Amino acid sequence: MVQTSSYDGFANNWHLVHLGSRAVGGAGLVMTEATAVEKKGRISLNDLGIWKDAHIPKLLEISSFIKNQGSVPGIQLAHAGRKASYSSPLDKQGLRAYAPLEKSKGGWETLGPSPIPFEDGGNQPKLMTKNDIKKVINSFTKAASRADKAGFELVEIHAAHGYLLHQFYSPISNIRTDAYGNDFNGRIQLTLEVAKCVRKVWPSNKVLCFRISFTDWIDGGWVLEDSIELCKKLKKIGVDIIDVSSGGTSSKTVAIAKELIEDRDNVEIKSVIPLEPGYQVHAAELIKQKAKIKTASVGLITDPQHAQNIVSSKKSDFVFLGRELLRDPYWPIKAAQTLNQAKNLSIPGQYYLGWRDLLGVKYRGI
Ligand SMILES: Cc1cc2nc3c(=O)[nH]c(=O)nc-3n(C[C@H](O)[C@H](O)[C@H](O)COP(=O)(O)O)c2cc1C
Repeated sequence: MVQTSSYDGFANNWHLVHLGSRAVGGAGLVMTEATAVEKKGRISLNDLGIWKDAHIPKLLEISSFIKNQGSVPGIQLAHAGRKASYSSPLDKQGLRAYAPLEKSKGGWETLGPSPIPFEDGGNQPKLMTKNDIKKVINSFTKAASRADKAGFELVEIHAAHGYLLHQFYSPISNIRTDAYGNDFNGRIQLTLEVAKCVRKVWPSNKVLCFRISFTDWIDGGWVLEDSIELCKKLKKIGVDIIDVSSGGTSSKTVAIAKELIEDRDNVEIKSVIPLEPGYQVHAAELIKQKAKIKTASVGLITDPQHAQNIVSSKKSDFVFLGRELLRDPYWPIKAAQTLNQAKNLSIPGQYYLGWRDLLGVKYRGI
């Protein structure tokens, strides 16, 4: 999850401790935040990056630590497109405050499929030429090669949340009339080309995952049926897992707890994202069934039994956690305890005494 703690894209000890703690806490997979494949593709000045070889050594240190804890190190590769060049969300008081970054404060020209800003007052992106598109594909491909050298075992391409690839496949942000727009096949073209090029350089024994937004949650936008068709094509290219998220292209959507929607005045119901635990699981299930590809569920999953039910009822193959793991890096160990699976855990030797009250727990010697 975006940490906004990098300078010139470099990982540092914050990332080592942040990601390393989740590995110590027992997560099966520990994935980095959105890691920019181009300097221009950062959301903010302080995003993590992998656009140059100099970024590799610290990332290698982090992935090695994660592996040594028995977790799989993953990296998310991203380009923010028209949602780039925003201020760092952490202001001096540590409060979140995203706003378009002025050029005088380090802001830069953003790219997009069409010159439509994300929101009123947002950065107006440059309409990408075929050459710009080629460069972006090349940047994703090179970033994947670097991720391999940096020891990661899973790459996730961020094609969700209104970032560049999603901007291309969504009719909300893409009104091009060339081969990269016009209709469904044109709009998904960039995502497919990135998948093909990355698959070529990413070793066949390593996992390739795509995060998509299964819907834009707004009339006239991308819908679940589109996602199913896209995922069938991604599967043919050799993508292994679809991480099923949603939203992020339109600034007009509002996320509201499902039970409060009825009570809320002045809400255009079709633009509402109805939040409840596991609110995206049905889409992961349908994509798994129809596109015959492994899927991961994400979104307001915090209860171990809920997570277990999703996987054991084969709604999705994996469950990914975001905020709950920010609150508690030891969630996986505690979840194993709740589900009577502690005997299958391997606790670091250094922490064994802290957990020995968990019956049958194994420990990892130092
Ligand atoms: C602080 C924060 C940072 C996030 N950063 C990323 C990110 O880098 N990449 C990404 O795909 N999603 C990111 N997300 C979305 C989460 O990965 C996740 O999909 C979302 O929070 C819903 O899952 P949850 O309810 O388990 O948190 C972020 C969310 C938050 C709150």
